[in-house]
Amino acid sequence: MKNTQEYIHENKEKFLNELLDLLRTPSISADPSYTNDVSKCAEQLAQHMRSVGLDSVEICSTAGHPIVYGEKIIDSKLPTVLVYGHYDVQPADPLELWTSPPFEPVIKTTSAHPQGAIFARGACDDKGQMFMHVKSFEAMLSSNELPCNVKFMIEGEEEVGSPNLGIYVKENKEKLAADIILVSDTGMLANDVPSITTGLRGLSYVEVEVVGPNRDLHSGLYGGCVANPINILTEMIASLHDKDGKITIPGFYSSVEELSNEERGEMAKAPFSHAHYCEALDIEDTYGEATYSTMERGSIRPTLDVNGIWGGYIGEGAKTVIASKAQAKISMRLVPHQSSEEITALFVKHFESIAPKGVRVKVTPHHGGEPVVTPTDSIAYKAASMAYETTFGKKPIPVRSGGSIPIIAMFEEELGLKTMMMGFGLDSDAIHSPNEHFGLFNFYRGIETIPYFFENYTKLMSNENA
Ligand code: BES
Ligand code: MN
Ligand code: MN
Repeated sequence: MKNTQEYIHENKEKFLNELLDLLRTPSISADPSYTNDVSKCAEQLAQHMRSVGLDSVEICSTAGHPIVYGEKIIDSKLPTVLVYGHYDVQPADPLELWTSPPFEPVIKTTSAHPQGAIFARGACDDKGQMFMHVKSFEAMLSSNELPCNVKFMIEGEEEVGSPNLGIYVKENKEKLAADIILVSDTGMLANDVPSITTGLRGLSYVEVEVVGPNRDLHSGLYGGCVANPINILTEMIASLHDKDGKITIPGFYSSVEELSNEERGEMAKAPFSHAHYCEALDIEDTYGEATYSTMERGSIRPTLDVNGIWGGYIGEGAKTVIASKAQAKISMRLVPHQSSEEITALFVKHFESIAPKGVRVKVTPHHGGEPVVTPTDSIAYKAASMAYETTFGKKPIPVRSGGSIPIIAMFEEELGLKTMMMGFGLDSDAIHSPNEHFGLFNFYRGIETIPYFFENYTKLMSNENA
């Protein structure tokens, strides 16, 4: 019988083709017109999980999109790893910016991926990464080297804020009992600089509306005489940052955890090239909060960004009009120990307070989530670190990421479990953007590294309990 790594080596083509099949199903969770495709994708995944030998595979319906569950319990005395991921994807628009159709995956090379990358929506976030676990499992089981129990919980609503996963977790605590949660839905620094994600930012997301006159007005007849909602909204938004890039909402920073100089020094050791960073984005310089590095601005500091803004006339040519209202969507990324609920409340209070007479302001909160930091002195971290050392030949660097996976904090609260984040994507993989891709190197290296994590984790846990 082949061992796990040999099995992976001999099945690379097959693994890739199976992933491409999954990528052809447009499982866009945000758009109701794709509901059938989301269900189809869940079906496809469940079928696949059965075929690789997982037991009790089921499609768990929720008030929204279904969760796919499966498990392999080999011995109740051994540790249990609960793998979480998501099979839903972001909408693909703007379609015209894709160089190949988002749901017709193809392999192309890029400068970061000279060995080729899979171009498709969801290739990296998160179908490709979630699927690595299914394939690692297949390899371990087929070679009789699965060292512990494993459970899979793959949801279909991550990209819309996981509105139903919390309920599922609360109702299935026993079924989900485990020792550690394992997630590949983040990134690493570079293909030759392995890193482990040790933190994620939280999120507060709000939609704002500034309403002026009861109808659109002629900008000649009324211009200068009434508050123009677009002028006002943009002024209000501009005032949310001061000239040092600090957010002006009173109380916004009051619970922010400040890192010690020592911790900042540790962080600064991660390789970062300002020139490469700018070149990759075609910008002349970076921008952000004074006295913090780009790495810090994007991970350990809270931020506020307009994600969309609209109002008034945006058609061909010129139409002289003062719009009756203007709107924007705003996200705030949060760090330990900010609370999403508190920050949203502070935003609402402040935004309403800065509205001038002559307009009405409405703030509607959307989904939010809490930040997380995971320990680097845990058994799981050691097991992962050793696994990377085996496959990359280098010790991974711990890095806090700027992205958010709100349910990870919820897992800790509801299940009392820590999460190990082993992400294999690159920041340049264009997740959520046109031309999302996932390196073949990354896909295969992930599949190779995960079984070492299982092996190391099981061994270290049994030493611990001996
Ligand atoms: N996988 C991402 C989060 C991520 C990506 C974290 C890269 C770290 C590195 C996840 O699917 C995502 O997009 N999360 C959203 C929030 C969610 C509530 C829609 C985000 O971070 O904007
Ligand atoms: Mn994701
Ligand atoms: Mn995402």
